[in-house]
Amino acid sequence: MKLFIDTGLVEEVEEIASWGVLSGATTNPSLLAKADGDPGDIIRRICDLVDGPTSAEVVATDAEGMITEGRALAGLHDHVVVKVPFSPAGLQATRELTSDGIRVNMTLVFSAAQAILTAEAGATYVSCFMGRVDDIAVDATAVLAEIVDALRDSEAQVLAASLRHPMHAVTAATLGCDVSTVPAKVLKQMLVHPLTTGGIDKFAADWQSDPRFAEWLSGLVEGAPARA
Ligand code: E4P
Repeated sequence: MKLFIDTGLVEEVEEIASWGVLSGATTNPSLLAKADGDPGDIIRRICDLVDGPTSAEVVATDAEGMITEGRALAGLHDHVVVKVPFSPAGLQATRELTSDGIRVNMTLVFSAAQAILTAEAGATYVSCFMGRVDDIAVDATAVLAEIVDALRDSEAQVLAASLRHPMHAVTAATLGCDVSTVPAKVLKQMLVHPLTTGGIDKFAADWQSDPRFAEWLSGLVEGAPARA
């Protein structure tokens, strides 16, 4: 499963991209509204940092407006994927934009029935929300499992969105989702395990028990050939 970062903040992308785990990014109007600066500059900067598909969302609700906005957003950077909300107009815009060679991420998909329509309209990504489904006391795991199963023979990629904690990402991966888009906070939570931090501390303490080990390693590092 590929990992995208779900954010409108360039500084979060800079930090997490340095880990080497990101394949793309997603933004939405709510996320960009929290950021300072020109949205176009932010989207282009995120595209460069992740060097992969970066979703930018239309806000029009009619097909013509979605198509016009989508073409403009796609012009911002080669990595832009146009995010279109699910609706009859959204399906129409998806078909039109994909005919132009523009990739579409259809968002706000909450059922297998909607996912099937989305795939048939030609979307590259089908964004299925987990957190917002759990929020209304519906089992997001069951909904996502049904969507993954329904799209098993489709070229459309299932993208798990609205992730609130690490187990959402684990569930998405084990169900066979192609992508999870994950907020920075959750990506950082995914790092944490007490046995890892405890293990690092123990290795360091054992190594420091005799100064000869540090001297040996310094010598090894100094003698190592420089790499271009
Ligand atoms: C990403 O593509 C979605 O817009 C995002 O994951 C929604 O997350 P939220 O439900 O936390 O707003």
